[in-house]
Amino acid sequence: MQDVVQWLKDNGDLKVIDEPLDVELEIPHIAYIEVKTDESRPILFTKPINKRLDIVYDMPVLMNIFANKALTEKIFAKHPDKVAEGIDKLLKLKPPSGFIEKLKMIPELFALKNVFPKRSKVRGECQQVVIPKAEVDLDKLPILKTWEEDGGAFITMGQVYTKSLDGGMQNLGMYRLQQYDKNHLGMHWQIHKDASHFFDQYQKAGKKMPVTIAIGGDPLYIWCGQAPMPHGMFEMLLYGFVRGKKAQLVKSITNDIYIPKDVDIVIEGFVDPLKMEIEGPFGDHTGYYTLKEPYPVMEIETITMKDKPVFQATVVGKPPLEDKYMGWATERIFLPMLKPMAPDLIDYYMPENGVFHNLILGKMKTLYKGHAQQFMHAFWGVGQMSFVKHAIFVNEDAPELSDDLAITEYILNRLDPKKILITQGIIDALDHTANETLVGGKLGVDATSSEVKEGVKTLLDDKTLLNKMQMLDEHILELKQYFTHTKNPICVITVNKTESMKNLIERVSILGENIKLLIIVDKKNNDINEPYMLIWRVVNNIDAQRDITLKPFIIIDGTNKSKLDGFTREWPGDTFCTKEILDSLQERKLIDIDEAFIKKFGLLPFEN
Ligand SMILES: Cc1cc2nc3c(=O)[nH]c(=O)nc-3n(C[C@H](O)[C@H](O)[C@H](O)COP(=O)(O)O)c2cc1C
Repeated sequence: MQDVVQWLKDNGDLKVIDEPLDVELEIPHIAYIEVKTDESRPILFTKPINKRLDIVYDMPVLMNIFANKALTEKIFAKHPDKVAEGIDKLLKLKPPSGFIEKLKMIPELFALKNVFPKRSKVRGECQQVVIPKAEVDLDKLPILKTWEEDGGAFITMGQVYTKSLDGGMQNLGMYRLQQYDKNHLGMHWQIHKDASHFFDQYQKAGKKMPVTIAIGGDPLYIWCGQAPMPHGMFEMLLYGFVRGKKAQLVKSITNDIYIPKDVDIVIEGFVDPLKMEIEGPFGDHTGYYTLKEPYPVMEIETITMKDKPVFQATVVGKPPLEDKYMGWATERIFLPMLKPMAPDLIDYYMPENGVFHNLILGKMKTLYKGHAQQFMHAFWGVGQMSFVKHAIFVNEDAPELSDDLAITEYILNRLDPKKILITQGIIDALDHTANETLVGGKLGVDATSSEVKEGVKTLLDDKTLLNKMQMLDEHILELKQYFTHTKNPICVITVNKTESMKNLIERVSILGENIKLLIIVDKKNNDINEPYMLIWRVVNNIDAQRDITLKPFIIIDGTNKSKLDGFTREWPGDTFCTKEILDSLQERKLIDIDEAFIKKFGLLPFEN
């Protein structure tokens, strides 16, 4: 892919916006809204500006490259399932037993020749312009500030290339990078990630760590950067495998890290292991702000670029977003890699409103008692899958995992408190709910058995049940039951929380005849009629060990936690758009949304 913009014009229905637009909030808000629409398209902003700093940039900003499934598939030049098939074949390669078998293997082995990147000695087109250290100025790049409360501007689609201290391993990871000033960036590689492991090595050796960040080029680099490759495997191998041609790499000018020759912008520098700076806050893909924390800092040695670079960026926040489509490809492609540790796994699905690490559904061929539990532990014990907080396993006879209604019915008909495992494990660094960082509650639901016998003994209509509950607890404001035709209808209530929900739970626990599964959410900023965002909220907001009660029926406390609950960490706020920006974009016909859209996706705080 030589020219991504031209390629997107030809293949991706690229939207081009020529109006001057601010990199602070305006451009990100447009991209954020676009990707939530049914006709989500990539957008090229040809005239980015920064009103506050009075800057007119001389390069365009390209966003939502992974705008939809069709485009994602085109970027791969094949369906992700096809890539998965190729990986599956490789993993199952056996020594050939005869001449014919040997011949049959040739195409597969031939494909492998493309896996290893080609390193070139000459400079690449990404080095057509070289900016020396003294002239480095990050303000010349249209770096976006996405959310009002963000701690600054962040590079959101940076390909971060690093190598181990002994040079034996190279890594590409996608981590956000905060702009501190003209020549310093914050490296948000979380503690579990490969670049952070490398950083540890440099820190222990007391040596500066070389880092090269690339922006742009083939969008597949970006996807490879976020792919959860096993530790020690360079993501460019995966690139070569998917593309069917070797990644073409050139050496950075001021260090010996190799980067793809066709990227648009390259930022080279060193991270001083003695220097840490506060990073964030930043409105993240969980739909919450991640809190301020110290992270390493990179000092820039040089910036190089193409003659006419394009600045690629993405927006994260509440789902659905561009990472939905990147995540879809990842989910498909990594299925065969999960099978060696869980051979009877048929399929898995990470619903976008579970923001990947908060909810996973797995379909399996159940062979023995405890099989689903075995899978839970396997998932929670391997690579980035171990961040998953809530895992539900169903049997091979279950409907398609992505058929939301049918699979929910199937699970609710099999939900049995005795088959629920609540335990503790490693959690994503972004998780805000656990009482301490990095370790928290895990929920595993074994829904592989046959249907449970008993449903709700006396099913009441919403109004009657609400009245009954309100007599028990005055904090309850609204009630809606979902899936009342199943064995475990979901009863959702909203509350005005002024005390720990433990009191409410105790008061309503006499309602075992009317309720089998109760979910509590705050009235504030939740709409009881929007299941998509309710799921997002609940799986985000709970720590299973603290917030799930199994007796006398299942109760899930999805409210925000505070000192009322004995929660001592800071509870972050939601990512909300800025109303004046939305109004102004709407007035200028740059977006076209109504109240229902705003409410559906929680774009603004609710006026409860
Ligand atoms: C849009 C987007 C932004 C991301 N930002 C970060 C980040 O700031 N820090 C981080 O550690 N991981 C981030 N990730 C996840 C990593 O890219 C992902 O875990 C990747 O597999 C890490 O690679 P590594 O295992 O080689 O370190 C992001 C992913 C996406 C899709």
